[in-house]
Amino acid sequence: MKNTLVTGGAGFIGANFVRYLLNAEPGAHLYNLDALTYAGSLENLKDLPDPSRHTFIEGDICDAELVNRIMAEHAIDTVIHFAAESHVDRSIHGPGAFVQTNVIGTFTLLEAARASWAGDFSGRRFHHVSTDEVFGSLSPTDPAFSEATPYDPRSPYSASKAASDHLVRAYFHTYGLPVTLTNCSNNYGPFQFPEKLIPLMILNAVQGKPLPIYGDGKQIRDWLYVEDHCEAIYLVAKNGKLGETYNVGGGNQPYNIDLVREICSILDELRPANAPHAALMTHVQDRPGHDRRYAMDISKIRQELGWTPRYDIESGMRATVEWYLDHQDWVKSVLGDEAYAAWLEKNYAKR
Ligand code: NAD
Ligand code: DAU
Repeated sequence: MKNTLVTGGAGFIGANFVRYLLNAEPGAHLYNLDALTYAGSLENLKDLPDPSRHTFIEGDICDAELVNRIMAEHAIDTVIHFAAESHVDRSIHGPGAFVQTNVIGTFTLLEAARASWAGDFSGRRFHHVSTDEVFGSLSPTDPAFSEATPYDPRSPYSASKAASDHLVRAYFHTYGLPVTLTNCSNNYGPFQFPEKLIPLMILNAVQGKPLPIYGDGKQIRDWLYVEDHCEAIYLVAKNGKLGETYNVGGGNQPYNIDLVREICSILDELRPANAPHAALMTHVQDRPGHDRRYAMDISKIRQELGWTPRYDIESGMRATVEWYLDHQDWVKSVLGDEAYAAWLEKNYAKR
């Protein structure tokens, strides 16, 4: 990991991972390639532990010339690939950007790694960060997703991630590219853009706005604190078997409505209002094709690499609510003036 290219390192998980890797690998230099879409911000990269070992490059992973140049000029030996369009609701309103970045962007990076490493793969790694959503939706009694569960993506987002996973594995089988993959469940924690459930609920609740619960709110996600995900990615990229996929999850699987109630009760304690925050919960029209339940079987990564989550959901959620309350300047700067309001109007006004 001497010269590591991190893609999407100005986004939520990427920015947490940049911090994690600077601490974990004191000899590494990180090249962080990010297009700074609405989801990425340099605000997420302030106060890094050792900024002299971090170089930010603004650019698109679909730009083959740029990616080839970065691989060659910086003698990149490791790629950790986060960059993606990541929000399911946005993929429903506009799937094109998801196919472009998630499929073509991943393809462009794979080609650049193949060309740059030119068959000499010793000491080289291409790690692809993916999602549990590629496996589809579980019924209440189905066993958790394992690495052998067949792919069954049901949103444009998860279909584009599934396509990228297939490409990554194809480059291993066809060209011997030294790849590893992780498929992870829902992350939460600092720097998550407030379009996703947890930060959206915190910010709306503090402002006394409605808390939009899709459908009956009995959907289930498998929540993992972001730092735990960073550790899992690091261990797999370093010590995982080439060509292999590892499932990563938190083992915390509340109904969405119960999770939102928990956020409300933390806020009742930290920021008491005239009425309990839970009174703001409002059921709205469901997400089309909404996956009902996700759950991850993490026995492979636990047995092979000794990874288990360190955070439980109570402490992780409290730390997250406190982080958002304490970082109102960050919130203001990442939301911008009009784009976020336009998104809220597009996604919620007609629900
Ligand atoms: P995010 O939306 O917060 O950040 C994505 C980052 O990628 C942003 O900084 C954005 O500017 C950048 N980006 C987007 N398009 C780009 C392009 N064409 N070129 C360069 N940079 C581009 O996403 P996240 O939640 O941090 O997710 C990161 C990765 O982890 C994604 O691949 C996602 O599929 C995967 N993942 C996310 C979760 C989760 O719960 N958030 C769970 C499992 C897997
Ligand atoms: O499972 C991993 C995935 O988790 C990642 O691959 C995605 O990048 C990430 O965005 C996340 O996808 P989800 O769709 O599960 O996350 P989101 O925060 O958008 O929604 C979580 C649940 O909350 C889901 O069941 C939909 C519901 N929801 C979401 C929003 C934004 C609501 O009920 N109301 C809302 O306003």
